[in-house]
Amino acid sequence: MPSSVLSPVLAVGAVLLVTYFFPKYICWRNRMVKLNAIPTMGNSGLFSSYISAQRYKDHALEIIQEGYCKYPGGAFKIPLLDRWDVIVSGEKMIDDIRKASPLDLSFIAAFSEDMQTDYTMGKVVRVNTYHVPVVRSPLTRALPARFHDLRDEVVASFADFVPAKESEWMKVPMLSTIMQIVSRTSNRYFVGLPLCMSFACHSSIPIDVKTKAGTRTTSRNLNITFTVDAVIGGTTLQRYPGFLKPIVSQFLTNVPASLARAEGHLGPLIRERLAKEKEHGTSDWPDKPNDLVTWLLEEVGERNENIVSDIVHRVLLVNFAAIHTTSMTFTNSIYYLAAYPQIAEPLREEVSAAIEELGWTKAAMSKMVKLDSFLKETQWLSGVNGVGMTRMALRDFTFSDGTVVPAGTIVAVASQALHYDGAYYEDPETFKPFRFSNLREQEGESLKHQMAAVDPAFVVFGGGRPMCPGRFFAVNELKALMGHVLLTYDVEFENNKGIPPPSWHGVAYSPNRSAEVMFRKRAV
Ligand code: HEM
Ligand SMILES: *[C@@H]1O[C@H](CO)[C@@H](O)[C@H](O)[C@H]1NC(C)=O
Ligand SMILES: *[C@@H]1O[C@H](CO)[C@@H](O)[C@H](O)[C@H]1NC(C)=O
Repeated sequence: MPSSVLSPVLAVGAVLLVTYFFPKYICWRNRMVKLNAIPTMGNSGLFSSYISAQRYKDHALEIIQEGYCKYPGGAFKIPLLDRWDVIVSGEKMIDDIRKASPLDLSFIAAFSEDMQTDYTMGKVVRVNTYHVPVVRSPLTRALPARFHDLRDEVVASFADFVPAKESEWMKVPMLSTIMQIVSRTSNRYFVGLPLCMSFACHSSIPIDVKTKAGTRTTSRNLNITFTVDAVIGGTTLQRYPGFLKPIVSQFLTNVPASLARAEGHLGPLIRERLAKEKEHGTSDWPDKPNDLVTWLLEEVGERNENIVSDIVHRVLLVNFAAIHTTSMTFTNSIYYLAAYPQIAEPLREEVSAAIEELGWTKAAMSKMVKLDSFLKETQWLSGVNGVGMTRMALRDFTFSDGTVVPAGTIVAVASQALHYDGAYYEDPETFKPFRFSNLREQEGESLKHQMAAVDPAFVVFGGGRPMCPGRFFAVNELKALMGHVLLTYDVEFENNKGIPPPSWHGVAYSPNRSAEVMFRKRAV
C-alpha cells in the first residue's frame, strides 16, 4: 500500500486509539483494580476469563448456583465476553439493592446496557421515564373500569387461535400462540379497538374478528416482532463499540423499521387526540378515551414538536415490558397445567364460584386465591430470568458488608438460587400449586403471599423502587387468561409428557419454544 494512503489510515487509527480506546482502557484498569477484591467464579486472567465467558453462555445457572453455595450471603463476579458482572445473594445484600438510590444503583442504566436501548428505542427512554408512573397509577387504576375490554379480547383471541372442538384434541404450539394472544389482549387494554387490530395483533391470514363492538374482517399485522426485534437488536449491538452502534443499529436491527411502522399506525391517533385538545382548548376534553395514549398525554405535560414520536416510543416500551414477561409466565403456567391436569378441578371450582358471584370483573379476580397461588408457584419455579434486580452502579457502591462495586459495573441477585434455597420455603423445588394459598389461610398472612406482593424471597417482579409497576395489571390479565382456559378447555400434554425443557442463553431464559399442548373444548 503506498504510504500516501497508509498515513491517513494510521492517523485515524492513532486518533481512535487516543480518543476512544485509551480512555476506555484506563477506565477498565481502574475498575478492574476494584473488582479484583471480589472473588471470581471461573478464571480471571485476560484470556482464560474469555473461556469462562464462553462457558457461562451455556452454564450460567450452574455457575451462579456454585457461587451461591461458595459465597453464601456474599458477592462474586462472573466474566462475560465484554464485562464483569457481580452477583449477590442473602437478605442483607438484596435489601441493600432494594434501598439503594437510583443515583447509585440504576435499573434503567442496566436495562439500557443490556437492551442497548439508546440505539434501538432512542435516548428518550433513558432520559425521562414518565411511562413508569403511568403504568403504576392510571393504567393499574383503570382495571375495574376497563376489565370488560380485557375479557372481551381474551375470549375473541382464544376463539381465533385455539378453535378446539369437543370431539378431538387440537395441538397448539404454545409459546408463539400465547405471544399473539397476550399481545392482543394487552393492546386491547392499552390502545383499544380498532388500533389493537392493526397495530398489535399479528396474523397473516385475514380473519373475522367478533367482539361486542361488532364483526370486522381484518388482516392483523404489527407485531410482537417489535419486542423480538428489540431483544435481538440489543444482543447484537452489545458486541459493537459505542461509536459504531448508531450505524450498526440502522443496518443490523429491524427496530427502526418497526418504529416507523408503529408510528404509521399510532401517529394518526395521537395527532387526532392533540387536535381535540386544540379544538376544546383543554387537555381535559369531554369523553376522552380511558387508554394508554390519554394517560401518557396527561403525564407528559408539555406539548413539544416531538410529542407524537415520544408517545409512540412509550407505547412500544410498555409493550416491550409487558408482552414477553407475561407470555413467558402464562406459557409456563399452561405447561404446568398440562403436566398436572388434576389441579384443573380445584381451580375451576374457585373460578366458577367467583364468576358466578361477581361476573368477569376485577373484583372476581381478587377472589381467586388458589389461582393466584398456582400462578405464583409457576413463576417461582421458572421465573423469567436467571438473575433478578439487575442494576448498574453509577458510582462506586458499598454494600453493608463492605463489598465495593465500582462505577459502571452491573450487579444482580442470584434469583433462581434464591428461590431454590430451602431457607425460605419448604421443598422449594417441588411443584406445590397451593403453597401460597395455604400460607394465606394462616392468621394475618392473607395479603403477604399474593403474587403481586413484596416478598423478600421472591424477586420475579424485582424489588425496591423499580419493582415492576405493571405487576397488578399482569396478575389480573393472567387470571383472566387462565380463568378462561380453565372454564373453556381441557389441557394436556400428548402421552403425559412432563414440562418440556426451557432454553437458556447465559441468564436469559425462555420457556420451551417448540412444545405443543393439546386443547379440547370442555363439554358443559
Ligand atoms: C408476569 C409479567 C411481568 C413480569 C415477570 C415483570 C417483571 C419485571 C421486572 C423483573 C422488572 C424490573 C424490576 C426490578 O429490577 O426491580 C420490571 C420492570 C418494569 N415492568 Fe414489568 N413485568 C411483568 C409485566 C409487566 C406489564 C404487564 C407491564 C406494563 C403494563 C410492565 C411494565 C414494567 C415497567 C414499565 C418496568 C420498568 C420500571 C422502571 O423503570 O422503574 N411489566 N418488570
Ligand atoms: C409483522 O411481521 C411480519 C413478519 O413476521 C411482517 O411480514 C409484517 O409486515 C409485519 N407487520 C407489519 C404491520 O408490517
Ligand atoms: C423443547 O422440548 C422438546 C421436547 O418436548 C425438546 O426436544 C427440545 O429440545 C426443547 N427445546 C429447547 C429449545 O430446549
